Amino acid sequence: MQKKLIQVPKDFMIGAAVSAWQTEGWSGKKDSQDSYLDVWYKNNHNVWHDGYGPAVATDFRNRYKEDIGYMKEIGLTHFRTSINWSRFLVDYETAVVDEDYAAYIDDMINELIANGIEPMICLEHYEVPAVLFENYGGWGSKHVVELFVKYAEKVFERYGDKVRNWFTFNEPVVVQTRVYLDAIRYPFEQNTKKWMQWNYNKALATAKVVSLFRKMGLSQSAKIGVILNPEVTYARSSAPHDQEAARIYDLFFNRVFLDPSIKGEYPQELFDLMEKHDITFEHTKEELGIINRNKVDYVGLNLYFPHRVQARTSAWNERIPFHPAYYYEKFDLPGKKMNPYRGWEIYPQIMYDMALRMKEEYGNIEWFIAENGMGVEKEQRFKNEDGMIEDDYRIEFISDHLKWLLKAVEEGVNCRGYMLWAFSDNVSPMNAFKNRYGLVEINLEDNRNRRLKKSAYWYQRLISERQFETNMEEYK
Ligand code: BG6
Repeated sequence: MQKKLIQVPKDFMIGAAVSAWQTEGWSGKKDSQDSYLDVWYKNNHNVWHDGYGPAVATDFRNRYKEDIGYMKEIGLTHFRTSINWSRFLVDYETAVVDEDYAAYIDDMINELIANGIEPMICLEHYEVPAVLFENYGGWGSKHVVELFVKYAEKVFERYGDKVRNWFTFNEPVVVQTRVYLDAIRYPFEQNTKKWMQWNYNKALATAKVVSLFRKMGLSQSAKIGVILNPEVTYARSSAPHDQEAARIYDLFFNRVFLDPSIKGEYPQELFDLMEKHDITFEHTKEELGIINRNKVDYVGLNLYFPHRVQARTSAWNERIPFHPAYYYEKFDLPGKKMNPYRGWEIYPQIMYDMALRMKEEYGNIEWFIAENGMGVEKEQRFKNEDGMIEDDYRIEFISDHLKWLLKAVEEGVNCRGYMLWAFSDNVSPMNAFKNRYGLVEINLEDNRNRRLKKSAYWYQRLISERQFETNMEEYK
């Protein structure tokens, strides 16, 4: 196969990500510090693959120094994780800090910096405290928005002088979509209005935290943004009905966060649709003003797969509460390339298409790929004689995606980097350790010991040589 050499621009960041709850484990956690995810794991243990979950995860809480050693060996310039809100405080109402956990975060950040790795910290990667979910309905409550701001203030007071890259949320649309829109998780309630309220309250929380960040004077040396997961949406055809399906999908799932965060306002068409279907979120003029005045500095985008839709082919069942699927249904493209383990289509051009959109529709704001990666099942079968996992599929996946991303960068898109999901194998919601994502293997049969995979050495060369080879299309 013919190869092409691609250059990586000098300052283009190459890093990797994980989150707190997917790696830390419960070591040192107090009983009152469950997150929503911890409770879901405890209550619905059977739905988590092989029973694994956040309880031990990768034991990062105890092994972070060892892991940072591997990050250094690979040469990562940036590492993103989250602070676990439910663990950082012992009292969420008055924001009393858990000093043990805070000391661990302090040391982890120091260790990263001492090893030349820039920490990128997210304030919420689904770790909403369970008690706030039970008492107030979680992100459906404006009171929870205020508690999040109090929590953010404590975090900024402690680490604001060390960390230069901050984010309010990771994928703020996800939890409520699974919980209230699709009702596939505890508490199994289908309630589209609640879904919209969560969406809005998280956008409002982002704006309030951005405002706080600026008031605290942190903008002089640091940036604050949000990590979003726009699903790059393609219509089946150019016909108006399919185009409309894609446009409406995009409004409800992508623009619902992209627009308030970057443009400071919601699309009018979204307001119209919400009104038509009686799902408008409770809001005030003053709150919309806060959103308007506090746009983010930059955004991280998590891009994994394309989303394909077509117009509905059957009538909507009117007994079902409104769901955006009223306007679309999934389109299954014949012959698409799949990652069969995760069930996600592989279509690297999403990088380029989304990048152009950021340039054309979102004022060429600064952004970066905050997550992209490939989860593969039973990776042990790829171990070589020496016991190292030879994950050539991951190397191919990364190079194909990077190739499209860097093409956009060459064309003037303001994308500043690429962060792989994930630094190490880790626990996924429900799938637990089924699909492995890491550059670093976590061996569950051997005390969770770590070992670099082939992709880690490839990544190491990518970072040091700032170039990589990719396959050219082959026409046979
Ligand atoms: C992203 C999330 O959506 O995808 C991560 O930010 C998640 O938390 C990753 O682990 C991979 O998806 P999954 O469901 O396979 O873990």
